[in-house]
Amino acid sequence: MNYPLDTVVVEKLWAKQASNLPWYTPWEKVCDGSQEQIRWFVGGQLNASYACLDVHVKAGKGKKVAIYWQGEQGQRRKLTYGQLYAMVNRYAALLQQQGVKKGDVVVLYLPMIPEAVAMMLAVVRLGGVHAVVFSGFSAAALRERIVATGAKIIVTADVGYRRGKTLHLKPIVDQAAEATGIEKVLVIQRSQEAIQINQERDVIVSDCDDDEVYVEPEKVESSHPLFILYTSGTTGVPKGIMHGTGGYLTYVYSTIKWAFGINEESIYWCTADIGWITGHSYVTYGPLLHGASMVMVEGAPDYPTPDVWWKIIQDYRVSIFYTSPTALRMFMKQDEAQIAQHDFSCLKILGSVGEPINPEVWRWYDRVIGRQQCPVIDTWWQTETGGFMISPMANQERITLKPGSATLPLPGVIADVVDERGESVPANTKGFLVIKRPWPGMAIGIFGDQERFKEIYWSKFPGAYYSGDYARKDSDGYFWLLGRADEVLNIAGHRIGTAEIESAVLMHGAVAEVAAVPVADQVKGEQVVLFVTLKDGIVQSPHLIQEIMLVVRKEIGAFVTPREVFVVQQLPKTRSGKIMRRLLKAALNGNG
Ligand code: WT7
Repeated sequence: MNYPLDTVVVEKLWAKQASNLPWYTPWEKVCDGSQEQIRWFVGGQLNASYACLDVHVKAGKGKKVAIYWQGEQGQRRKLTYGQLYAMVNRYAALLQQQGVKKGDVVVLYLPMIPEAVAMMLAVVRLGGVHAVVFSGFSAAALRERIVATGAKIIVTADVGYRRGKTLHLKPIVDQAAEATGIEKVLVIQRSQEAIQINQERDVIVSDCDDDEVYVEPEKVESSHPLFILYTSGTTGVPKGIMHGTGGYLTYVYSTIKWAFGINEESIYWCTADIGWITGHSYVTYGPLLHGASMVMVEGAPDYPTPDVWWKIIQDYRVSIFYTSPTALRMFMKQDEAQIAQHDFSCLKILGSVGEPINPEVWRWYDRVIGRQQCPVIDTWWQTETGGFMISPMANQERITLKPGSATLPLPGVIADVVDERGESVPANTKGFLVIKRPWPGMAIGIFGDQERFKEIYWSKFPGAYYSGDYARKDSDGYFWLLGRADEVLNIAGHRIGTAEIESAVLMHGAVAEVAAVPVADQVKGEQVVLFVTLKDGIVQSPHLIQEIMLVVRKEIGAFVTPREVFVVQQLPKTRSGKIMRRLLKAALNGNG
């Protein structure tokens, strides 16, 4: 292996961290292979569901609360580790009855309910692989992901709730599953509304608390896939990022401890949806591995009242709060004095993720929510990295934080900023953020396409992982994230490729060409603006613009509704015919 000299030290670090997890069989080698092919804790066997639940129940912590759940109407539920463990066992038994075996992919299309966490753990208890699809994705987007995974089983709920509206998820699944490989649709019933049932295919998940079943956790080798999570890149086809078991869990366990100092006493609240990587690593796996209590909330941040989140922090005595700059920017528009009336004395750590946090947002978070008594932990990472890469460490002898900087790489992470040739750039120079050594949380591949995995992440700069982000290092070596370097947008922390948006727009029969261009947005960070040319003979109308907006919602989901659609006579192109998006972007953002 061609690593810097301190390989021995780094391997020791990860071996020590991995030993915090319960292994059935110890590993033979800390790691093997290099770059995109590296595998961690080779030969070791474990089970993620066992590590998150059984260990705590066995240690006599079955009565401890695992999840405090709150719905939009203020409904509350409490699940202890013992109850969650029982639920996971019942779900695992049900999935087993439906034929799920080791290595099978199960798609989950679920709202933010404890059952979602339980289903993830039930799938992996059997050695299955979950593929969670964010429940804000449309039927078309869900279908694309179902087909890509080849899944035979999907789990959904009849409904979800957001901003007072009932979202009917089951009909979306019905539409998405048609003429795919889906054989069974498992439905968690929440409402009293009648559900349209397909007798041969649908199974209502009737969950009876009194049923005691035990499903033996499947022992899997460390590199056995734990989940697939689709994310966007520069092409129109989403990538199924695949994570392994032992390396990933070791990394999530370590990073949530280092960055947030989580422990059994923590009341931890991460506001991310389980449909994104944050919801995997730091809603489901991270807090449960540590036996912490978490708060889980369904619905919008400012509904039914603008202060619902602050009340939750106060009522549940949240000690670690982890959210996105987009949410903070929305709250910054509210009356500060009213927010500050809440009792935030319980808070110890504030986290941020998803987008660069502007220094003024950082300061507001620190002052108003943290009362200048909680470190603001800005965590830079990605779906592909599995866990935090660049982030302050809560319990480290306080390094000086700098508002707007994710500070320094975590232990074992070698990050750098390089130019096109892969050479480190001088301080304060913008360049590409790369990671110069594999880490245990790194994705193990793209589902069904190892070549693409290598090409996208490990080929641009030989020997290093390419993140797709711009960054600069200051003279103290602190990292400042400067947004994506590729054709990927970040709308309210949701990552989406311009190519994906463009292929959605082209589904509209009137559109000849399109350029999807990011524009800065005060709350969401970025939004998308579309420039389209129409096919010959088509006349522009407000109705047509509306339809083009709708096609994006239909093909992807409402979270990418374009801010504006401009119909133009022609798009600026290079001599070879490539649309010059940079030019449009510069023009839109007022620096053209
Ligand atoms: C992209 C990854 C990682 C969980 C949520 C998003 C941007 C993420 C930060 C941060 C600046 C950030 C990057 C990255 N990003 N966190 N703290 N500061 N930018 O995961 O959907 O895989 O998106 O989000 O551009 O590449 P994701």
